[in-house]
Amino acid sequence: TTYSLLILPGDGIGPEVMAEVRKVIGWFEENKGLSFDISEDLVGGAAYDVHGIPLADATMQKAQEVDAVLLGAVGGPKYDNLDFSVKPERGLLRLRKEMDLFANLRPAQCFDALADFSSLKREVVAGLDILIVRELTSGVYFGQPRGISEDNTPGNEGGRVGVNTQRYTSGEIRRVARAAFELARKRGNRVCSMEKANVMESGILWREEVQWVHDNEYPDVELSHMYADNGAMQLVRNPRQFDVIVTDNLFGDILSDAAAMLTGSLGMLPSASLGAPMENGRPKAMYEPVHGSAPDIAGQGKANPIACILSFAMALRYSYNEGDNAALLEKAIEKVLADGVRTGDLMGAEGGVPVSTSGMGDAILAALTAL
Ligand code: NAI
Ligand code: MG
Repeated sequence: TTYSLLILPGDGIGPEVMAEVRKVIGWFEENKGLSFDISEDLVGGAAYDVHGIPLADATMQKAQEVDAVLLGAVGGPKYDNLDFSVKPERGLLRLRKEMDLFANLRPAQCFDALADFSSLKREVVAGLDILIVRELTSGVYFGQPRGISEDNTPGNEGGRVGVNTQRYTSGEIRRVARAAFELARKRGNRVCSMEKANVMESGILWREEVQWVHDNEYPDVELSHMYADNGAMQLVRNPRQFDVIVTDNLFGDILSDAAAMLTGSLGMLPSASLGAPMENGRPKAMYEPVHGSAPDIAGQGKANPIACILSFAMALRYSYNEGDNAALLEKAIEKVLADGVRTGDLMGAEGGVPVSTSGMGDAILAALTAL
C-alpha cells in the first residue's frame, strides 16, 4: 500500500523542521519498504502571500482526501497586522473545522536524557508517558449564546456582561470518549475522565456519557473519573499515575499546556488532531508540532526538528497503522538524546554535542540505521 500525505510546511521554522521529516520519510522508504504519495502545499502566511488567504480551497480539498496532513507552523511578525479573517492561524482553524477534527491528542512523554529539563524533579517525571485527549470542536469556546452586552444593564457598575456558554451534546462527548478508549487499548488500557461534575451540568453529562460508552462498548478498559482541578494537582504531584486523560475543550487546553511543561522543551512536543473514521477505517487526521513558527530563530538552522518528527511518528501509528515503525523512530530519537546530541533549546547545564536542525535530522537517520 501507498500512504498519502499532505505536507503543509507553513511559515518560519515550519519549512526547516519539515525538511528533516522529509529525510526521515526517505529513510523509511529506502530501508523499510514503506511507500508514500506526498503532496506539498501552502498554509498560513505563505499561502496568504500567494493567494491572499491563509488556506486555498484546493488545499482544503486535498486535505479532505489524503490519509494524513502534516503541518509545520504558521504565523510571524510580517502577518501580525493582517485583518482577522486572513490571519495565518485562520488557515489552521479552517483545516480543523472542515475536517471536523474533534479529538486533539497531546502526548506528554519524558525522555530520560531530558528529565532535568522538566519543571518537576527527575524522580517525579522519569519515564513519564501519558496522553491527553482534548475535545477540540465544542464546549465553551464555541457554545451559544456568546458575546459582550451593550453598556445598558442597570444596577451594575459599568453595566456590561461578557457571556460564553459551556454546551455539550451527548454525541460530542461519546465520540471523543470512544477515541480515548480506542487509544487506551493500544497503550496502558486506562482512561481517566476529567470534568467538574460537582459544579457544572455539562460536567454531569460528560461523566454520565463517558461512563455509558465505557459500560456499553469498552468494559475491558479501566475507567476512572476525576474533578479537573484535582486533575491539575495530580498532574503535578504524581503524573505517572495516568495513562490516557480525556477532557473537554477548556480543561484540555489548560491541562495539556501544564502537562507539556512536565517534559521540557517546546521543541520536543508533537500533537495529533483526529476526526471521524474514513472509508478505510482510519480517522481523518492532522499532525503538527505544538510549537509555533519561532520567528526569533527562523532561518538560522537552530530549530529542533524533533517535535515535527515525533508528529510524523504519530501519523505512522494512527493513520498508517505502522506502530512498529513509529516505535522504531521514537527509539532512534531516544538514542540520539541519550548520546547527548543537542539543538540549542536542549542545551542544558551538562552540555552536549551541539547540532543544527539538519545535524539533528542526520543524527536521527544514523540512529535509525544503527538500531
Ligand atoms: P513559538 O512556539 O513560535 O516560540 C516560543 C519560543 O520557543 C521561542 O523562543 C522559540 O524560539 C522557541 N521554540 C519554538 N519551537 C522551537 C523549536 N522547534 N526549536 C527550538 N526552539 C523553539 O511561539 P511564539 O513565539 O509565541 O509565536 C511565534 C509565532 O508562531 C506567532 O506568529 C504565533 O502566532 C505563531 N504560533 C503558531 C502556532 C501553530 O502554528 N500551531 C502555535 C503557536 C504560535
Ligand atoms: Mg493552549
